Amino acid sequence: MRLTRKNILAIGLAAAALVTTPFAQAQAQGKLKVGLMLPYSGTYAALGNAIENGFRLYVAEQGGKLSGREIEFVKVDDESDPSKATDNVNKLIKRDNVDVIVGPVHSGVAMAMARAAKESGTLLIVPNAGADAVTGAMCAPNIFRSSFSNWQSSFAAGDVVARQGKKKAITITWKYAAGEEMTTAFKEGFEKSGGQVVKQLTLPFPGVEFQALLTDIAAAKPDAVFAFFAGGGAVKFVKDYAAAGLNKSIPLYGPGFLTDGTLEAQGDSAQGIFTTLHYADALNTPRDNAFRLAYAKVYKQQPDVYAVQGYDAGQILAVGLSAVQGDVRKKAEFAAAVEKAIIDSPRGPFTLSKAHNPVQNIYLRKVDGKENKLVSVAAKALNDPARGCRL
Ligand code: BEZ
Repeated sequence: MRLTRKNILAIGLAAAALVTTPFAQAQAQGKLKVGLMLPYSGTYAALGNAIENGFRLYVAEQGGKLSGREIEFVKVDDESDPSKATDNVNKLIKRDNVDVIVGPVHSGVAMAMARAAKESGTLLIVPNAGADAVTGAMCAPNIFRSSFSNWQSSFAAGDVVARQGKKKAITITWKYAAGEEMTTAFKEGFEKSGGQVVKQLTLPFPGVEFQALLTDIAAAKPDAVFAFFAGGGAVKFVKDYAAAGLNKSIPLYGPGFLTDGTLEAQGDSAQGIFTTLHYADALNTPRDNAFRLAYAKVYKQQPDVYAVQGYDAGQILAVGLSAVQGDVRKKAEFAAAVEKAIIDSPRGPFTLSKAHNPVQNIYLRKVDGKENKLVSVAAKALNDPARGCRL
């Protein structure tokens, strides 16, 4: 091409256009740094891995990029330890300068992360921890949750257990926010439907010395037991409950974490347990079937609720990024887009509430073989009360 004045002008205009296209913007922004703050050790290690798998699957399905930006992962093992959480999250925010944080699993860790995200304005997507305050009193324009609130997971179970004719129940859990909020929500639902919680048993997280508490339960002879444990602790609890022979006389219930991702290890001891959760096996929708097939192909195992939540954290991020052409500094536009979106989740489509928590169906499930089989919808489009949120 001859360098005439006309050609030079044309090249200049083309170059200017390139700089302002989304593609050029993404090039200029470079990689998107995602901080994964999850447990990779301890009783919740499998949960952290499933969340990461789900998130990575969604990104891979988009060709490895979101809004034209390649993803760089920075990983921190949070060890489900609230006492290390502030240091861990500040490393991601201040040392690694991440654009967005995805985590954690543990409600106590989530409180420290939400505080740091609120102070720094860093985007936070919570792919599990149900701490009510994260989308309650601590809610913020830059904090989103792809999972559930602790209240949401267990309130509907109260009515289910009462409807099955149970009058007196005992709750048992680890003594920290998740267990306390879930068992309180169960009590609220159960007593509203005419039941009575006669005892609330706890042990320190992540302890698995259940024997003395199981002896208490056997002596009290309630009509039902409602338990929150998850991961390795849930495997041990369900096995110990059956080994003590309690599963024959006192039916065990829980939020679905008690039997999700754990059935392979729990085997016969989990058969017949009813739980409530925002996901179930055998939903048998085209969306869920496609997700399960894709997940199984890549990871050679079936997904669980944690994988779904990780996948949906990716979807929420993608919706926000697309509205701001990958520029995470445009927080208000990012939030506005996510607030309007319908997330096409394997669990079924959901929206985010004003407080940024999923408004979603809660399913009643029953363990049958290696599956938490769908029984019915226990609560349709359940919204968390978001107590204390001023958004
Ligand atoms: C929590 O700490 O919020 C939690 C941990 C595991 C499963 C569900 C909730």
